[in-house]
Amino acid sequence: MNTSLHTLIEKRSTTSHFDASKPLNNSQITELMRLATLAPSAYHFQNWKLIAVCSSSAKARLKDIAMGQAQVEEAAVTFIICGTLMPHQQLAAALRPSLDAGTLPQEIADSWVASAHASYADNPQLQRDEAIRSASLAAMTLILAAEGMGLSTGTIGGFDTPALIEAFSLKADEIPVILVTAGYASAEKRPQKPRRPLSEVAELV
Ligand SMILES: Cc1cc2nc3c(=O)[nH]c(=O)nc-3n(C[C@H](O)[C@H](O)[C@H](O)COP(=O)(O)O)c2cc1C
Repeated sequence: MNTSLHTLIEKRSTTSHFDASKPLNNSQITELMRLATLAPSAYHFQNWKLIAVCSSSAKARLKDIAMGQAQVEEAAVTFIICGTLMPHQQLAAALRPSLDAGTLPQEIADSWVASAHASYADNPQLQRDEAIRSASLAAMTLILAAEGMGLSTGTIGGFDTPALIEAFSLKADEIPVILVTAGYASAEKRPQKPRRPLSEVAELV
């Protein structure tokens, strides 16, 4: 593994206290979202939506929805990472740039579209699983990208889902999966917590 990425994974820890006086500019925020969308997804669905919450008013709204967790207001930005349902319906459009770039043959794209329709169209549970898988991979990619840019990050699952959907006008097919905070830590970061022993959570078969 690339040494710097290895170190970054070993050093990353969740930050709860941010220096609210240090913002990120729009190009930094956009770059983080661009890097997040380089995450992989089934069939190359790209079945995600990212919302960067950075204005004072939007942060205040989100803090209320996230059980009053102060880091949502103090972080330079909090990303709402959503997964989207019915990914098969927009797959042909999602694959178009790969066809144009010559990185995916037309017959493979056609077979993926047919296969995705057969698997997902009548399976709302699979659509939801896929939305959560894709959003989670995008979230972790965003976290690593931010840490690699020298920022600190945190992850928040504690939020009121219906309230978030309403406050940020999410569409019926957009599922808010996780919030990711990013910015500059205000204090010395806590070290990463020790993990359960590998022998308990991993096996070689
Ligand atoms: C799905 C998920 C939900 C989380 N929700 C919250 C949260 O609501 N508030 C919070 O302060 N931390 C939250 N965390 C952070 C975890 O507590 C943290 O990742 C864990 O304690 C391990 O610490 P580390 O990331 O520093 O190693 C969440 C993390 C994940 C992955």
